[in-house]
Amino acid sequence: MFGLFRSKKVETAPPAVSHIAFIMDGNGRWAKRRGLPREAGHRPGARTFQRIVEHCLARGIPTVTVYAFSTENWRRPQREIDEIMELLEKYIDDTFTRYADRDVEIVFIGRRDGLSPALVEKMEKLEAGSRGRTSRVNIALNYGGRDEIVRAVNRLSEEGKLPCDEATLSAALDTAGRPDPDLVIRTGGDFRTSNFLLWESAYAEYFFTDTLWPDFTERELDRILSDFARRHRRFGGV
Ligand code: IPE
Ligand code: IPE
Ligand code: MG
Repeated sequence: MFGLFRSKKVETAPPAVSHIAFIMDGNGRWAKRRGLPREAGHRPGARTFQRIVEHCLARGIPTVTVYAFSTENWRRPQREIDEIMELLEKYIDDTFTRYADRDVEIVFIGRRDGLSPALVEKMEKLEAGSRGRTSRVNIALNYGGRDEIVRAVNRLSEEGKLPCDEATLSAALDTAGRPDPDLVIRTGGDFRTSNFLLWESAYAEYFFTDTLWPDFTERELDRILSDFARRHRRFGGV
């Protein structure tokens, strides 16, 4: 089923990963260390994002989620926000062409309000054009885990579906239809979730690395995948 994207270079059997998620952190510090303004780190960060997503698909991982912009990131200087939004628009334009014949759907998770109408239009066009394909890349944009849960609960309330069970709430989230993440990787050296996939990550394995996101490589990802394959996930059992 995923043979299309399986890299010929796989030497060891890939671990069973259905969903991998990334908190792409450290762009600002990467730039600062080079004497550049913070926002200069987002362009190399965007390149890493494209490389790493490709690598995950090549490894046969069917769902990849990346944290691109949080509901809290509006607190940043306007100049930096503008740079991130511009890069996202450019990414969407590129993806239209590059993914035209690929079996990959792109889904944006998070709030649409607050984003520019031009950007939202591009997001929706890309989603509509790729819907129903085998692999999925979720881009968390203007995303907050708490916000996602609150929106889901409010929608269920409007539809008269409350009280509800866990499966119903899961199905009302932005990530509906795909399994929960098996592993969440955070670059940049901090040990926190920063409001990412709060509901979905209940039993995810977390990996934290000091590597700043623009420096994160396929090689390091492969090491993490090997480590993941050795972890014993008990899900509350013994
Ligand atoms: C992550 O890198 C990218 C976004 C949050 C958009 P940062 O910009 O947070 O980089 P640091 O953490 O300040 O180094
Ligand atoms: C998390 O990084 C958000 C994204 C990677 C988009 P932040 O840099 O915003 O997280 P905090 O502020 O250090 O918790
Ligand atoms: Mg950060």
